[in-house]
Amino acid sequence: KDFDFGIVGLGVMGRNLLLNMADHGFSVAGLDLDAEKAASLESEADDKHTVKGTTNAKEFVQLIKKPRAIMLLVPAGKPVDAVIKSLLPYLEEGDIVVDGGNSYFEDTNRRVDELAAQNIHYFGMGISGGEKGARFGPSMMPGGDENSYERLRPIFEAIAAKVNGEPCVTYLGRGSAGNYVKMVHNGIEYAIMQLIAETYDVLKRGFEFEDDELQNMFASWNESELQSYLIEITAAILKKDDEITGKRLVGLISDTAKAKGTGKWTSQNAMEIQAPVPSIDLAVNMRDISKYKEERTQASKTYAWHGDSENISKESLMANFKDAFYFGMLSIYAQGMAQLTIASKEFDYGLNLEEVTKIWRGGCIIRAAVLEDFRKAYKANPKLPNLLLDENLASKLNVHQKAMRSVVKIGIDKGIPMAVYGTALTYFDAYRSETLPTNLIQAQRDYFGAHKYERIDKEGIFHTEWEE
Ligand code: 6PG
Repeated sequence: KDFDFGIVGLGVMGRNLLLNMADHGFSVAGLDLDAEKAASLESEADDKHTVKGTTNAKEFVQLIKKPRAIMLLVPAGKPVDAVIKSLLPYLEEGDIVVDGGNSYFEDTNRRVDELAAQNIHYFGMGISGGEKGARFGPSMMPGGDENSYERLRPIFEAIAAKVNGEPCVTYLGRGSAGNYVKMVHNGIEYAIMQLIAETYDVLKRGFEFEDDELQNMFASWNESELQSYLIEITAAILKKDDEITGKRLVGLISDTAKAKGTGKWTSQNAMEIQAPVPSIDLAVNMRDISKYKEERTQASKTYAWHGDSENISKESLMANFKDAFYFGMLSIYAQGMAQLTIASKEFDYGLNLEEVTKIWRGGCIIRAAVLEDFRKAYKANPKLPNLLLDENLASKLNVHQKAMRSVVKIGIDKGIPMAVYGTALTYFDAYRSETLPTNLIQAQRDYFGAHKYERIDKEGIFHTEWEE
């Protein structure tokens, strides 16, 4: 009785979060329909900790002290609704249900409303950091009713990753704010993963770098301003040998990528709210193109291309790629953060981007040294519409701009796709263009569809009879 917290779904994530809470002195009850998962829980926590597993929803709910705090760690979609339905008969006014999965934010909006009708507070909370993060310190992105967050705060702050003693969790905003922020986190994750993969591709396929050279390069990047979790694991991946063949494992892995959908959702909603995120769009596209292996194989024979192999030393290539990577990474974060800025207005989330960058500094998949620079940028100017307008970041981007252009040219010459490098640069170039050729597009629209246009020299809406 009087357990501090409840967790539904004792798969890897649920179980690890539960054990993390128990480590921090909280008593936690777990619910899972799988009797074995429920039963084995108690043996996993040591004697000092109070944990209890059950398969019975009523018993589970009654174990938790009021107002209850219950977190769901079940697959997004129908399973979430099914669990809510099974708990609902036993829940009472003021209780809190937290969905810790990668739920679609519109689903969360619906559930917030459905449960609010019974005075139950529903939170959508993104959790990042994978299995290890869940066990030893994730980054957590909760959104929902601000007052009821106080009931969750001590537990979440205790189990979250810490950076300089500060927990990587904070109340983010209203409604589905937490799911939306996690969705964009994943979009950024997709684009940075693709940026790293393109670096690997051009250097390996275009300039015959060995895995060892690439491994060393990424490991040294990780000691620089590029320090980040995704670079760190890339270096580790590149040195792993296959146990059976003794070859590098990465070269034996199929190049057909899978995706669970959060990157796609980021792009879809970005289009909806007119927040351009071309690098995320292309990162999703590249995973999709990777599926057409047979067609790619066929086309590779039709369109063989042996790009000119200008003599560039490996040292200068690596130096240029390092600066270009920094540039690309900044452009990607700028796109994602701008999407959050626009979404916060569109959906009335009330996001504080300094807080978002603060809780992304540790625990999550996109944690990186640059997040501290972003936090400072938003601290200095909470209304900053785009990271590209921050003066400190701008001075770095200006230094790295030349390298970025030379690297993108290399991809074009070699015939190796650099979709995310290319779009990261295009986004930058479009954003810094005072004039764009969209005046011509407006004229074309008016020509064929009488869609009208505005002028730069006088007020009003105009239409022209273009044909003589
Ligand atoms: C995280 C990850 C996590 C998961 C992704 C993978 O932050 O811990 O983003 O949520 O690994 O959903 O996404 P894909 O399967 O779509 O690549």
